[in-house]
Amino acid sequence: MRRIAITATVAIIVTGLMIVAMLRADEFTEKDQQRWQQEYMSVVAEGRELWVSPDLGTNGVACAQCHPNAANTHPETYPKFQQQLGRVVALRDMINWCLMNPLEGAPLDLDSREMVAIEAYVTYERRGVALAPGKH
Ligand code: HEC
Repeated sequence: MRRIAITATVAIIVTGLMIVAMLRADEFTEKDQQRWQQEYMSVVAEGRELWVSPDLGTNGVACAQCHPNAANTHPETYPKFQQQLGRVVALRDMINWCLMNPLEGAPLDLDSREMVAIEAYVTYERRGVALAPGKH
């Protein structure tokens, strides 16, 4: 009897500790958040470099020439129907459209580091703007 009682007590304590560990796993420390913010802002900075670079395409034109500070890119309206592509597209499809047309460049892989960086920069510049998917 005593043995069963001890085993049961140990099991209860172990289960309790596991529950506490699981609950704590969801808590993010300030250090975590600072690191994530730093990493995010470094990708935004990479995107900005690509945005102003005359070497992203082939003709020396930079995205920033027509879209200073990501003006008129309206990331908050994506996904939406885009006439140039004839279908509902994501923001990155339109980034590639401008890359291939005004910049006469090669499209970026949709999951490439550069594409994510450009998207991070564009959406960062429009932070706080309400989402309006589909809007023209
Ligand atoms: C020569 C000028 C010019 C350059 C350079 C240019 N764009 Fe554009 N961009 C346009 C025009 C014009 C439109 C409007 C097309 C439309 O929405 O009908 C546009 C539209 C866009 C849109 C969609 C805007 C919306 O309202 O939906 C995005 C995103 C975009 N450009 C990204 C880029 C990126 C990324 C680059 C650099 C790779 C770039 N643009 C370079 C002229 C330019």
